Amino acid sequence: MPITIHSEKKLFHLFGKTFSYVLYVDEKGNLLNLYWGRKLPDGDVTYILKEFRGGASFDSEYSRLPFELPTVGTGYFGMPAVRARNEQGNDVTVLTYDSCAQVSGKPALSGLPAVYAEADGEASSLVIVLRDALTGLIARLKYTVMENLDVLTRSVELENGGSENLNLTNMLSASVPLPGNEYDILHLKGGWARERRIVRRPIGEATTRVESRRGASGHEENPFMAVLTPDTTESQGEVFAMLLIYSGSFLAATEVSNFENSRLSIGLNPDVCSWLLAPGETFQTPEALLVHSAEGLTGMSRRFHETIRTRVCRGYWRDRERPVLANNWEATYFDFTEEKLMAIVDEARKIGVELFVLDDGWFGKRNRDNCSLGDWVCNMEKLPCGIGGLAKRVNDAGLRFGLWFEPEMISPDSDLYRAHPDWCLHVDGRARTEARQQLILDLSRKDVQDYLIGALSDVLSNASIDYVKWDMNRNMTEYFSGAQLPERQNETQHRYMLGLYRVMEEITSRFPKVLFEGCSGGGGRFDAGMLYYMPQFWTSDDTDPVERLCIQYGTSLVYPPCTMGAHVSASPNHQTGRATAFKTRCDVALGGNFGFELDLSKQTPEDLATAKEAVELVKEVRKTLQQGQYTRLENPFTGNFAAWQFVSSDEREVVLCAYQRLTMPNAIAHRVRMTGLDENARYVDQETGETYSGAALMYVGLPVGYLRGDFTSRIIRLKKA
Ligand code: DGJ
Repeated sequence: MPITIHSEKKLFHLFGKTFSYVLYVDEKGNLLNLYWGRKLPDGDVTYILKEFRGGASFDSEYSRLPFELPTVGTGYFGMPAVRARNEQGNDVTVLTYDSCAQVSGKPALSGLPAVYAEADGEASSLVIVLRDALTGLIARLKYTVMENLDVLTRSVELENGGSENLNLTNMLSASVPLPGNEYDILHLKGGWARERRIVRRPIGEATTRVESRRGASGHEENPFMAVLTPDTTESQGEVFAMLLIYSGSFLAATEVSNFENSRLSIGLNPDVCSWLLAPGETFQTPEALLVHSAEGLTGMSRRFHETIRTRVCRGYWRDRERPVLANNWEATYFDFTEEKLMAIVDEARKIGVELFVLDDGWFGKRNRDNCSLGDWVCNMEKLPCGIGGLAKRVNDAGLRFGLWFEPEMISPDSDLYRAHPDWCLHVDGRARTEARQQLILDLSRKDVQDYLIGALSDVLSNASIDYVKWDMNRNMTEYFSGAQLPERQNETQHRYMLGLYRVMEEITSRFPKVLFEGCSGGGGRFDAGMLYYMPQFWTSDDTDPVERLCIQYGTSLVYPPCTMGAHVSASPNHQTGRATAFKTRCDVALGGNFGFELDLSKQTPEDLATAKEAVELVKEVRKTLQQGQYTRLENPFTGNFAAWQFVSSDEREVVLCAYQRLTMPNAIAHRVRMTGLDENARYVDQETGETYSGAALMYVGLPVGYLRGDFTSRIIRLKKA
């Protein structure tokens, strides 16, 4: 069991293959975090407590203690992980140790996405119960070690065991002290069409907040934050990382105390979420996934990738090879007819595409983005045979059929809105702020959830639909609900997420073989919460391959390539105007779930031949691309090249992908050094037949350029001899 409890000392040692996490209950009943880091033989590090207690201080000793669940009013002045206001109007909460229980396996979190175990032996769980004697607040701290995946999960369940209401205003999922302040921080910042840019800088002296208040995890930040030792590179250095398995507003933060110790926290964003906890009620926080790596960023990403790919993503498609698709969005936008679509399908079939996806514009009277969201009825003027008829034509052509929805939205110009103007998030008496000329359905309401489950089920059961693109194109402004009591209004954002998760759970279990791909104006809700319901996500609306190098590279810090939608689009690119070769576009899209997003019926024979070759290659190597081990090799944020490699799970196949931004005349060929290969094995280049030792590929490197022309690329396929 990777959890040891020294009950006489009240010491808890949780450990994975390479990390330890040590908790201790002091003589006053405070639960303290003594250590998170490289694995220890046993967890007894209580000797470090002296350092927190000794020395003169203006503050009480509580200000120094490394609390595992800091609260308010005890003398600790950092950010509280739990803050509960009682009916006397104060937040003082003194949580002390009550009991603990060890559980084999991993209990599910009701209504929330979370890491799961498929067999009890995969996971060991511990629940530590703390209690406030005065208010009756009970905190159950839930930990699970996924031993093989080498990760720890952490969440908190809060119960009102008293007789008066409590108003929860901070409910963080994890908050861990770290010794000293010699660290860098790392997070993924961005915006629409430039998601998940890697930001790294010193932790500094002040608090840093990485957050969303938008009612979605957002384009701007990802619910992920890491603290690194300054020497950290891809292959060395110590990394402490947290990921929130949640799709709504969040807060991740680092603090540096006046004692020059640090703390990393993650959870719901207290600015936009509080919760009224009546006597007897419980509140479950989202789950945080904690990763420690002593082997730099590669070690961190491996743990995230394996956990997300195999124990966050679920269902029929989790381990299946994902189809090559063609999506009509950038090919036609709203301007399509059945014949135009079928012309694309015909070309798609010829080059080996397996799935055709009809994007926005098929329903109501939607010819622009100004109407009809909510009216999920086929526009028979555009598609005279209906969705069922079109799906049949696509199937007859030999492709599967997929359909776009934006289920959470409602257009003011829609029959649904005319019938139910109160079904959107709004505040009576105030204007309803529109974004992309649409409003958001109030999914905190059960009647709205039920309507949505019914409306989607109708469309999905009446046509042969094998894939759904679930889009979401605006964030919450008036995030309040007409159906809630005034004292519960600030719960709306989180209640919305719980409602959304209920709808998604219901729809994905009613249609278990449908492949769902999440989307939010590109990658605006690319998070582990969504991936629990939908195993892939549209990475970005920016399909320019040069931009995509950074977007996909940044995304890969946390999320495995099999979760990233990546499509070949037109040149010049619609977002940037940049012209690139067809092959480069294919080679970049090969770094994720491969597809096309351009009018295949209008491409030159040469480009179609390149497309066909690319599809053939993808089909040959996609098991390796989607289920193998991915490693970043060269960073496009800092250099002229980008490179990454995939190694199949049996380690026999290796795919090296190398990209060059600008060419340089009269240069010596650039060499990419690979990693994690078998030093003594021989690897054969499948194109040239040349063989190399693993050691040479790793230490000498493989020449890949300088390639002639800007924005060029090479895909090199190697097999172990
Ligand atoms: C935003 C998505 O990211 C696009 O791919 C496309 O589906 C549009 N919405 C359709 O409105």
